[in-house]
Amino acid sequence: MADPTLSRLDPGDLPPKVLATLRESLLAHYDRSARDLPWRRLTDPYPVWVSEVMLQQTRVETVTDYYRRWMARFPDVETLADAELDEVLLQWQGLGYYTRARNLHGAARVIRERFGGEVPGTVDELRSLPGVGEYTAGAVASIAFGLPVPVVDGNVNRVLCRLVDVPRLTPARARSLAKTLVHQDRPGDWNQAVMELGATVCTPRSPSCDVCPVASWCGARASGRQGEHPAPARRARVEPRLYAVMVAADAAGSLLVRRQDDPGLLQGLWAFPAVEVAHASIVEESAECLADRWAEPGVFVRRSRRALRLPPVRHRFTHIDATYHPVLVEVSRPSGQDARGEDVRWIDPCGPVGVAIPVAQQKIVAAARAVLDEPDPREA
Ligand code: ADE
Repeated sequence: MADPTLSRLDPGDLPPKVLATLRESLLAHYDRSARDLPWRRLTDPYPVWVSEVMLQQTRVETVTDYYRRWMARFPDVETLADAELDEVLLQWQGLGYYTRARNLHGAARVIRERFGGEVPGTVDELRSLPGVGEYTAGAVASIAFGLPVPVVDGNVNRVLCRLVDVPRLTPARARSLAKTLVHQDRPGDWNQAVMELGATVCTPRSPSCDVCPVASWCGARASGRQGEHPAPARRARVEPRLYAVMVAADAAGSLLVRRQDDPGLLQGLWAFPAVEVAHASIVEESAECLADRWAEPGVFVRRSRRALRLPPVRHRFTHIDATYHPVLVEVSRPSGQDARGEDVRWIDPCGPVGVAIPVAQQKIVAAARAVLDEPDPREA
């Protein structure tokens, strides 16, 4: 007789033997075919925590190199807690969602102060750390501490929707299903096996049901609806925003950046001074106003009134579609003034910058560099 599928069932309603066979089938598949990733087979909670934070919103292929560099620079909680935030953000540069890096750093300091430098081993303690929510706490607790707690991310949610053949699950229901399914003796491997299945076999489009180790229990496979589940999520509203960006270049071609201090996406990162504008037609005058304001405290003086528009740079944040309109302003720095302030730096666009600059701002650096590298016709 064919196995009963999970269609609209709670896995707990399946005969225990059937459920046990399903679990063993997926774990055996995982043991055979899991990708060999640098954080796999580790049970030290620190690298598990770092890798799981990096893997949120970022693909495995991208994370691998960042993870290796991070572990070489911050091999343990103590080293991370000791580091300056600037350096932590620099190591994270390019991974995006920088709040994750600020939280890892903040949490390392909390672990040092409150937990004697050891990553705590219960879900509640883990959740008390900055940036650690249900997902991260479940992943660390199960993978590093062997606690039989579930983990639900986008991949797991998709696998569950298909197994029980429904277009969507509430977070509570997904969690409850995952909790019933989790393997009691190998919870960390189990959770990773489900995530891995979602990433490699039970993919959003064209799932590879013919090689799926749990296909015979899958409700959507039986009904032929695997391509329909989960139903696409409603798209988040994305707000367009325009910015006039002042790219002040001194006589040597160094560019002024400042540290973002406002709480927000880019806090702690370095960026060109900018102001939001209502329309692209007022970009130049807005950048000029910025330049006049910056000139006042003696940071620089304008060398010429010439302001040159650079190509716009577009960057999509989760809820914001930002278009930056950079304007190059030629300036001189008052002699004798130190190039470095707490919150202001002059960076050499050709060299290593030494502070974290978000990707969109790096594109502005490249655009400025291309113009500054052009021979000046007045010197020909
Ligand atoms: N996605 C996030 N964490 C993962 C893990 N540990 N294994 C597979 N995929 C993942």
